[in-house]
Amino acid sequence: MSSHERPITVPDFQAARSKGVRLTVLTAYDYTMARLFDAAGVDALLVGDSLGMVVQGHSTALPVTLDQMVYHTRCVARGASRALVIADLPFMTYHLGTTQALASAGRLLQEGGAHAVKLEGGERSAEMIAAITRVDIPVMGHIGLTPQSVHRLGGFRVQRNAEQLLADARAVEQAGAFALVIECVPSEVSKRITESLQIPTIGIGAGPHCDGQVLVGQDMLGMFPDLHPRFVKRFAEVGKLIRESAEAFCREVREGTFPAAEHSFR
Ligand code: KIV
Repeated sequence: MSSHERPITVPDFQAARSKGVRLTVLTAYDYTMARLFDAAGVDALLVGDSLGMVVQGHSTALPVTLDQMVYHTRCVARGASRALVIADLPFMTYHLGTTQALASAGRLLQEGGAHAVKLEGGERSAEMIAAITRVDIPVMGHIGLTPQSVHRLGGFRVQRNAEQLLADARAVEQAGAFALVIECVPSEVSKRITESLQIPTIGIGAGPHCDGQVLVGQDMLGMFPDLHPRFVKRFAEVGKLIRESAEAFCREVREGTFPAAEHSFR
């Protein structure tokens, strides 16, 4: 939707599929990155609970709280003038039942300024998705490798049970979700899922047949130079650039060449 001038809405996002327009989604956790990605024409900014790993340095997303998600969503929403802002419901903020799910989703819209929420799980989450969409909060589903289930799954692994994945995808759509993230699933399976749904599918490690793609911003920018997941293409080596810039700063301060006259007041 690169030529789209006004802010992108949930119906625009859904309509992209029937128009054959591929959707672009990147994660963002702060104002600076949100502004840059928004200006680049990214269709949706996902405030993912991956911030537990990317921003907070945990080994999983499980420690992330709803208060933290509200805070980061607010920062991202301030930086987004065109992109749809979608916020993750973190672990244990929708698992206790529909009342909890509604209250949590409501906070991400009311306090965070999100336009939609994302939650993990297929058949098992259908009841929560239905309850949230019933009060007109748009929901994006998420199946395949669902990071909040990392301990049950035994790690961050490719998910290959095609029949279960298809059943999950259909359950998410029937519950009223407006889009579906498919994570780490073989390409042939995500192709079957995409063909069997009406709502757009957004892949991450799910091959080229989805209606759109999502990546973690810091991954695609090469800000974790030691991490090489197969499904991440590094579109830049920003990590190297940051390190070299910081090294140059240290060198110039130590040499006494920064600040120079043009950086100083008379
Ligand atoms: O939390 C996240 O960043 C996500 C994406 C990887 C889809 O769920």
